[in-house]
Amino acid sequence: MIPHRSTALISIVVFVALLLVIFSSSPSPTSDPLTGEEEVTGPAKYVPKLSNFHLPMFRPAAHEPPEQKNSTSGESKWYSHWEWINPFSSSITLDEGRSVLPPLADRPFIYTYYDASSEKHSKEEENADGQLLLAWRRAWYAQGFRPIILGRGEAMNNPMYEAVQRMNLNPDLEADMFRWLAWGNMGTGLLADVHCFPMARVDDALLSYLRRGVDPAQISRFDHIGSALFAGDKVRINDAIHNAIQKENTQAKSMLEIISPELFRVEQPTALAYYSSTSITNHYPEIAEKIVRSPAAGRLALVELINSHLHNTFQNAFPAGIAVLKPFPKYTTALVEPSLRLAKALAQCSTSPMPSSCPPSNQKCHPCSPDKSLVITQPSMYKNTSQLFTIGTLPHPYTLVSLQNNTEEVTSRYIRRETERDAWLKEVTSTVADSELGGSSRAVILKEAVAGDSAIGSSLWMTVESLPAEAGQALPSALLDEFEWQLGFKIPRDGNVDQKNEGKAKESMQHANPSEQGIEREYDLLQKARDAIKDKKNNRVHIKDMAEAWNLADTEVWRFVRAYRARSVVERRRWEDEEKDFVGARLKE
Ligand SMILES: *[C@@H]1O[C@H](CO)[C@@H](O)[C@H](O)[C@H]1NC(C)=O
Ligand SMILES: *[C@@H]1O[C@H](CO)[C@@H](O)[C@H](O)[C@H]1NC(C)=O
Ligand SMILES: *[C@@H]1O[C@H](CO)[C@@H](O)[C@H](O)[C@H]1NC(C)=O
Repeated sequence: MIPHRSTALISIVVFVALLLVIFSSSPSPTSDPLTGEEEVTGPAKYVPKLSNFHLPMFRPAAHEPPEQKNSTSGESKWYSHWEWINPFSSSITLDEGRSVLPPLADRPFIYTYYDASSEKHSKEEENADGQLLLAWRRAWYAQGFRPIILGRGEAMNNPMYEAVQRMNLNPDLEADMFRWLAWGNMGTGLLADVHCFPMARVDDALLSYLRRGVDPAQISRFDHIGSALFAGDKVRINDAIHNAIQKENTQAKSMLEIISPELFRVEQPTALAYYSSTSITNHYPEIAEKIVRSPAAGRLALVELINSHLHNTFQNAFPAGIAVLKPFPKYTTALVEPSLRLAKALAQCSTSPMPSSCPPSNQKCHPCSPDKSLVITQPSMYKNTSQLFTIGTLPHPYTLVSLQNNTEEVTSRYIRRETERDAWLKEVTSTVADSELGGSSRAVILKEAVAGDSAIGSSLWMTVESLPAEAGQALPSALLDEFEWQLGFKIPRDGNVDQKNEGKAKESMQHANPSEQGIEREYDLLQKARDAIKDKKNNRVHIKDMAEAWNLADTEVWRFVRAYRARSVVERRRWEDEEKDFVGARLKE
């Protein structure tokens, strides 16, 4: 039995503690009138102090982790760390505006060689080559590689260049030799022909294997596709060139013929589509003819053909179709409309010079056909299956509440009395989570769905506030460009998916679940909510913070998705920046 006095003592301690909590979390002014800087931002006012009080020793660090290079964009800030799968980023970054994202996966280098000086090209042909190189870069980038175009300059930097030049080789062999010299100069990675494309899902076994790195002992080559793709370590590559030079064979056509076979390891080329001239002649005779008649137009047709195959491979990879997440369908019609337009564009057939053809690597594909296009569904719950491509559109909690209450004048009383905490997450994760599960566990599930290994290549996520809010408006062109680098092919933009093509048809694309309050009203509310969220000074700041504090987990995943999207843009810009130093980069778009 606990003595009576001890119980009284415990009560007093608890009472004092409660008082401390209450006083320490009383609201403080949101902004300093002189500097205009916020002293305490957002829900900090309501919550984190409480957790400080409870768990002082579980704080992982006393200082904010240092800012990483290129880790901000607009309002998003992030910190890449392996502990990303944590319900609340602020427990690591000590800054609730800074999301913890998974570390960026290593992108292995993949090189291709383009020698602009070797042949006399017309302007049109150069443009066609530029388009092919662009398609090649986009396709490999989307598969998690770092594509780089090499030129004669890189070959000349190789110390063995002099020796090769003196050899008076057959021109085909010489060109191939230069390609290898450029590769050997750069080092470890893959060397691909510009006509070699990855034609499979991101989680394909061969592509996953190539992403894990190269075999340090041997150079990999692929059966049936000749010199289309190699993977090797820098030392082995230069050994192989050395080996080839010593053979003094000047009449062979390619390096593959003269390098000793034991230096290679042969693998099966599943997942690789090689559009060699033989395969074009065999499978796509119309294109072959066109190339003979008019090289520039023929090559452009080839680029279009390859793009349609990449798009079709995507469609074949998701037999269950595309799911556009739409929880609370009574008032989220306008909210998901941009995503729905994107889904429709993805389900469409790309224009192709040979619409019913298949990639050379998979002659048994199901060609895209307008009467059997991909199914688009609008479920309110996320389903974790590799058969389904998911497009998620996350609203800020304030936006959702405003739509739910059908007013731009949401009150804190309404939020507290009438709304459930973390309603969006609860609804979206209801198929994958136990109904008892709290917001923080659900946040972890959704983060996994956005950024986990199995999510890459099978879903796209965006925040509502990054999209246009005018009725019937299409997606921003910059966002579509960005998605193309995630997907690896050009999204058909002839419909009304791209803002640039707007004008005549501002049709509303909604038929299922018609909006209760009218879609125009929803757009109006969305626009006002976006302004309220962006505006740091107006009188809605308090209510926005209130909505965030009431929906901590919803806010957390919203910030997470915003930062994740922003980081992928920054990552790509950085790569393009670095790539500028290479010869091939001149030939873009
Ligand atoms: C990344 O950071 C470097 C140096 O901090 C800067 O020079 C570069 O412009 C940044 N790149 C982007 C895309 O912000
Ligand atoms: C919105 O909130 C107000 C104030 O709580 C309430 O009177 C009104 O009925 C709500 N409207 C809807 C559509 O829920
Ligand atoms: C989805 O399923 C895969 C494989 O079963 C699993 O690894 C992954 O963690 C799941 N993702 C979510 C968000 O539950």
